[in-house]
Amino acid sequence: MVKKPAKKSVKTKSAMRKKLMEAAKTAQKNAYCPYSRYPVGAAVLTESGRIYTGCNVENASFGLAICAERVAIFKAVSHGEKRIKALCVAAKSARPCGACRQVIIEFADKDAEMIYLDWQPLERKEKITITTAGKMLPLAFDPSEAGL
Ligand code: THU
Repeated sequence: MVKKPAKKSVKTKSAMRKKLMEAAKTAQKNAYCPYSRYPVGAAVLTESGRIYTGCNVENASFGLAICAERVAIFKAVSHGEKRIKALCVAAKSARPCGACRQVIIEFADKDAEMIYLDWQPLERKEKITITTAGKMLPLAFDPSEAGL
């Protein structure tokens, strides 16, 4: 028997990745980063199939800056969406910071796909790195181990 569902799911996965990457790139355009001049966009796919986006938002009081990933996640959670199936972050040398990794694993399944889209809007080249939430933060703080 032909394994049609598998083929379909692969196709769907690449379409999902593309959609998420486009959403992150679009969100990056709204980055408010007058201090670092480092725009970041993020997009999360939730269990319901919806996509929530975010960009970094900085402040004159530097420590108040918030990363694009956390903006996207907090938007999803504030809409009642607590399960993240995939996330994309788009920036030059895009990599979620340590704080965002801890926030991501709070809401993402271990096998949730993490897409790091390294690109610069004015350049044609882009580099895509794909990993999982589980691999992203080894020996992470685990609330259940800590008895919380
Ligand atoms: N930033 C993000 O938005 N996401 C990351 O993964 C790394 C850093 C932002 C925070 C700040 O506005 C700027 O990039 C420079 O650190």
